[in-house]
Amino acid sequence: MRTRPLKVALLGCGVVGSEVARIMTTHADDLAARIGAPVELAGVAVRRPDKVREGIAPELITTDATALVKRGDIDVIVEVIGGVEPARTLITTAFEHGASVVSANKALLAQDGAALYAAAEEHGQDLYYEAAVAGAIPLVRPLRESLAGDKINRVMGIVNGTTNFILDKMDTSGAGYSEALDEATALGYAEADPTADVEGFDAAAKAAILAGIAFHTRVRLDDVYREGMTEVTAADFASAKQMGCTIKLLAICERAADGGSVTARVHPAMIPLSHPLASVREAYNAVFVEAEAAGQLMFYGPGAGGAPTASAVLGDLVAVCRNKLNEANGPGESAYTQLPVSSMGEVVTRYHISLDVADKPGVLAQVATVFAEHGVSIDTVRQQGRQDGFGEASLVVVTHRAPDAALSGTVEALRKLDTVRGVASIMRVEGE
Ligand code: HSE
Repeated sequence: MRTRPLKVALLGCGVVGSEVARIMTTHADDLAARIGAPVELAGVAVRRPDKVREGIAPELITTDATALVKRGDIDVIVEVIGGVEPARTLITTAFEHGASVVSANKALLAQDGAALYAAAEEHGQDLYYEAAVAGAIPLVRPLRESLAGDKINRVMGIVNGTTNFILDKMDTSGAGYSEALDEATALGYAEADPTADVEGFDAAAKAAILAGIAFHTRVRLDDVYREGMTEVTAADFASAKQMGCTIKLLAICERAADGGSVTARVHPAMIPLSHPLASVREAYNAVFVEAEAAGQLMFYGPGAGGAPTASAVLGDLVAVCRNKLNEANGPGESAYTQLPVSSMGEVVTRYHISLDVADKPGVLAQVATVFAEHGVSIDTVRQQGRQDGFGEASLVVVTHRAPDAALSGTVEALRKLDTVRGVASIMRVEGE
């Protein structure tokens, strides 16, 4: 084994960074044996230098991250500060100064992955980011490497633990969204400002990364259609149950049937209880991959948290250190297919629509005509007269697969019918 250590610098020492430092220290001998050289923590850039950081020598702490990445003797930079800047500048500066980078930064990768890959390649360095998507779950490497010989057609996952916790609570306890969010906040799953999670921004960044890798094309955050889950109601769960379904916030990346384009989207959807993703409870993540030769694969595990995310970071650290010793590089960007990303309107899916309608002759025919006029075929219709009724009934229509634009056009037209008193819920149905 080489005795000269590989030098590692940490940018950020919060929940994840402190776990990375701890495992690097406590598992130093194993890591050295696996890599073929010892790894040395050579510097830690933080915002609050006065905070006590157990197990980290005070002389390693600095507030000058720029100076750290410019030192020139650092082999690998581990970036766990998140956000676009200053992370982007620090990472590109690190490449310029001869360091490879392990990052957990989904927002930056989703927004600027191509530029980062280009900078890594220009300077002969690695860019690894297993921790950016679904925490501890090995997913980026399986997609980039293990499945590199296959053709992936679909990636559908629960990639946000906070929202899965909230939806699971609503499902199991009958709670409304606000009540379930309060519980998630009290238990530390939801942040004080939960917007990034509940509005689907976090999942959309992960969808962009997954779609890009899966389809060997460039997909940016702006290409991802996004709907949050704040409008999901207890009534939606009741409807889902009647259909033998539950509701999940899904990130779905698909290759079009003709293979000529891809789509990426995040929205709540009903999925059958028989689908493997339906059984993903609490704050767990899971990603279901459909590949031409491999068939269906499911990746499951903790998607967040200090130690699970550190596990993914350390796996990348070992890989990048091995590459350094071998004077080789791991896979770079693979975007050769250059497939266009289609808009949500072109996605082909199914809808579950719950309407409050006048309970009188001809209404069903009127509603059915609107579907027919938009080229949307109805799969099932269930009507129930309401006790509180005043001559109203609930009408639940589930469609066959149709372009999303046709489905939303149908709903718009239904809203204009005098006999439709309200559209109680609209939910896409996936996973059948
Ligand atoms: N906030 C994310 C989640 C974890 O709830 O899954 C980090 O991406």
